[in-house]
Amino acid sequence: MNSSVLRERSSSRRFDYELPTRIVGGAGAIAGLAAELDRYDVTNPILVTDAGLRTAGIVDTVLATLPGGASTVVFDGIVSDPTTTSVDLAAEAIRAGRHDVVVALGGGSVLDAAKAAAATATAGRPVLDLVGPDKVDSQPVPVIAIPTTAGTGSEVTRFCVLSDPESRRKVSIASLRVMPTLAVLDPELTVGLPPAITAATGFDALGHAIESYGSVWNNPISEGHARHAVTLIGTHLRAAVTDPADLDARMGMLAASCIAELAANYTRLGLAHALAVPLGAAHGIPHGVAVAHMLPEMCAFNEEVEPARHAELARCLAPGSTRLSDAVRTLRADVGLTTRLRDWQVGEHDFAPIVEIALGSDNTRANPRIATAAELTDLLRAAA
Ligand SMILES: NC(=O)c1ccc[n+]([C@@H]2O[C@H](COP(=O)([O-])OP(=O)(O)OC[C@H]3O[C@@H](n4cnc5c(N)ncnc54)[C@H](O)[C@@H]3O)[C@@H](O)[C@H]2O)c1
Ligand SMILES: [Fe+2]
Repeated sequence: MNSSVLRERSSSRRFDYELPTRIVGGAGAIAGLAAELDRYDVTNPILVTDAGLRTAGIVDTVLATLPGGASTVVFDGIVSDPTTTSVDLAAEAIRAGRHDVVVALGGGSVLDAAKAAAATATAGRPVLDLVGPDKVDSQPVPVIAIPTTAGTGSEVTRFCVLSDPESRRKVSIASLRVMPTLAVLDPELTVGLPPAITAATGFDALGHAIESYGSVWNNPISEGHARHAVTLIGTHLRAAVTDPADLDARMGMLAASCIAELAANYTRLGLAHALAVPLGAAHGIPHGVAVAHMLPEMCAFNEEVEPARHAELARCLAPGSTRLSDAVRTLRADVGLTTRLRDWQVGEHDFAPIVEIALGSDNTRANPRIATAAELTDLLRAAA
């Protein structure tokens, strides 16, 4: 092993792990939503969602459980990879209606946007003013987060990832204050998720778990969560893709996605996300797909210097396997994620700006193996 490229890892490193979000789950959990509003003593909800969830009929299903039924105020103007503009509009709707709770229903895009809008509504400033670490200085409107994809784990994170239309970059709010009050994990809401999105979002969760486990800012609480999330994904992702109505598989993936972020919330990630985030922002690649492109390449790069740790995760993902990069590649093929970067019109001439952004990312600093610009370029080349 070449120790000069290995970052120092200490299992007695000091850590601080806080989880302010209550989590409820199980098939049909959404039926308890009205009782939850009573429990938190809130009476004037706004449901924040996107047009896709309307079309899928999921908005109507959830409205039927609320005391106001179909007359509940709905803001459905969130777009995928949500823009700061759509967040400011949602915040204005929250303020104008004097809503005392935000019910966020959707994938990571909706959950991130709703969390950010709930904070913007009380901050009284544009959301861009809240971007960065610990810039949220007022208590947001409480958020009930109901994920309809199993990938981002945003229902339990202190992050909101937004797209800044001016710079075409992703920007993040990082604050304990944006963590939802309640997360509701109901697998019935995810059965309509198309197989391709199920696979891609599942790989986002796998990235969170593997990268959090690899992070040199890891802690013992996160480590246990990460390992379990990898096991759940190895057990359930194939079935969730091939049999969309398999509720056990859907619940397993919702749990995995949530647990992976219980791991990653305080550890940061690794090179796969460091590269996938700018790839997605600059080239319109869905987040989970971009992660799936980079994850096996990152695993192959890191397992050269930490073979034992990676073999341990390989066994969680695929019992009997010893090379994590191979186990990840096999799962990726099995769930039909077969594109390469060239299929998104990304080639050699696009790599330099992606690498430059990745080099400045905390995710690169958390990665167990130090990576140079040339090595990051090689990882992109391997996925091209
Ligand atoms: N906050 C965090 O910690 C964190 C972590 C990872 C990623 N993210 C962010 O999350 C976003 C991606 O979220 P995502 O991958 O969940 O995708 P998404 O929220 O963009 O949803 C993708 C598509 O699936 C549709 N959809 C969602 N649920 C559905 C269902 N049950 N049935 C049918 N259609 C459904 C949506 O309408 C949308 O068209 C990105 O902006 C990414 O940067 C945030
Ligand atoms: Fe992610």
